[in-house]
Amino acid sequence: PMSSYAALLLGYLLGAIPFGLIITRLAGTKDIRSIGSGNIGATNVLRTGRKGLAAITLLCDALKGTVAVLLAGWLFGAADTLPAALGAFLGHVFPVWLGFKGGKGVATFLGVTIALAWQAAIVFAASWLTVAFVTRYSSLSALVASILTALAAFLIAPPPTGLLLAILSALLWFMHRANIARLIAGTEGRIGGKG
Ligand code: G3P
Repeated sequence: PMSSYAALLLGYLLGAIPFGLIITRLAGTKDIRSIGSGNIGATNVLRTGRKGLAAITLLCDALKGTVAVLLAGWLFGAADTLPAALGAFLGHVFPVWLGFKGGKGVATFLGVTIALAWQAAIVFAASWLTVAFVTRYSSLSALVASILTALAAFLIAPPPTGLLLAILSALLWFMHRANIARLIAGTEGRIGGKG
């Protein structure tokens, strides 16, 4: 239906707000795209040494996904929450304002999951924190957490929700292909490390 396209667009416009870039610009740090991995996500904002900015980036990049889903549900109905979630994720990863060069989708994946299946979001948080605590790799934590979250969603949510999160997880893995190559080569930077 038409409203699904409206929900997809609404999600996209919210998701495409590049909070990492906006927040670091407002704070006057070096261009986030010229340090560390060059990514605009919270992990790379942390490499500026500004923990508070990284926390705000994580919060805003997640909340835009949560808000997109809740807003679409409220405006159009429950059936249009999934297109809104898809839109928010695609907006974050492929923002038109940045020549379609956005982030890797981790925080926004978490944000839409909070609104779609909050129990699965707890699985995300617990698995991300566990892998991060043990390995100190932000990317590996997100890769593991996104798969377990999609599996959890298949168990506790309607099948389309699990399917959507599985698709977003696959996209998230694709966006992490350089990180995966570095993990295999043993050159991936660790959280709190030098890069
Ligand atoms: O959010 C992306 C994270 O998993 C890895 O970020 O900057 O190390 O590529 P980064």
